[in-house]
Amino acid sequence: MVRWQDHVGLLAKAQGYVARSALKLLQLQDKHRIIQQGDRILDLGCSPGAWLQVACKLLGDAKNGGRVMGIDIKETALPLSGCDERVEAIKADVRDLTAEDLDFLCPGGFEVVLSDMCHNTTGNAMLDGARSLELGQMAAEVALGRELNDDRTDVTSSGSLSHAEQQVPAGCLRQHGNLVIKLLQGSGSELFAKQLQPHFKKVAWMQPEASRRASREMYLLGLRRRRFLQPG
Ligand SMILES: C[S@@+](CC[C@H](N)C(=O)[O-])C[C@H]1O[C@@H](n2cnc3c(N)ncnc32)[C@H](O)[C@@H]1O
Repeated sequence: MVRWQDHVGLLAKAQGYVARSALKLLQLQDKHRIIQQGDRILDLGCSPGAWLQVACKLLGDAKNGGRVMGIDIKETALPLSGCDERVEAIKADVRDLTAEDLDFLCPGGFEVVLSDMCHNTTGNAMLDGARSLELGQMAAEVALGRELNDDRTDVTSSGSLSHAEQQVPAGCLRQHGNLVIKLLQGSGSELFAKQLQPHFKKVAWMQPEASRRASREMYLLGLRRRRFLQPG
């Protein structure tokens, strides 16, 4: 009998993708229209490159412009099919990235920040959940700046942002942009989702069909960022 993950892997391979994770992003896209033609996309934890392939395809024709910047702690060889000159990948630990690095890599920021980052799992659900949450928080910080965990962050009753909040760095996700973060659900995930809420029009969870049915893997989506502050 073919196991579910093998079945999904074969389907992805038949479509020319280097990993079955491609189908997860396609399913997230189908439901939430995360990527638009011509977007600038940051893909954190991009190796072996299936999301790079999908993101490039969703950018549409090269004349629409757009860009896909992948970052992984491992070296990523760009897949031979599905990635055109708008795609690049660099080797770096996301935990070491500074706002200046990101501004240098893509001045003006990104319309979409994706994070499929994860560690090798240990089988200890609590530990794996905690490590996954740490990577997710890192991705949110890249996208939103320090404002995520800043206790000065404050949305007033009218829904506007407090003066204090306007002093904090903005991260690299542009206004109206979308954020996707993979998490192994555990304690802390719901609080994390709550912290994202003031920053987006909508925050949602989704487990794509292509994820293993029994796994705790979920994607946390921040859709349509409420604002973007120019750094400095
Ligand atoms: C599930 S894979 C990503 C698959 C990818 N989305 C694709 O479709 O090909 C998770 C990746 O996260 C990367 N990763 C884990 N921790 C990282 C970190 N601190 N900085 C950058 N990449 C990291 C791993 O090296 C691994 O390649």
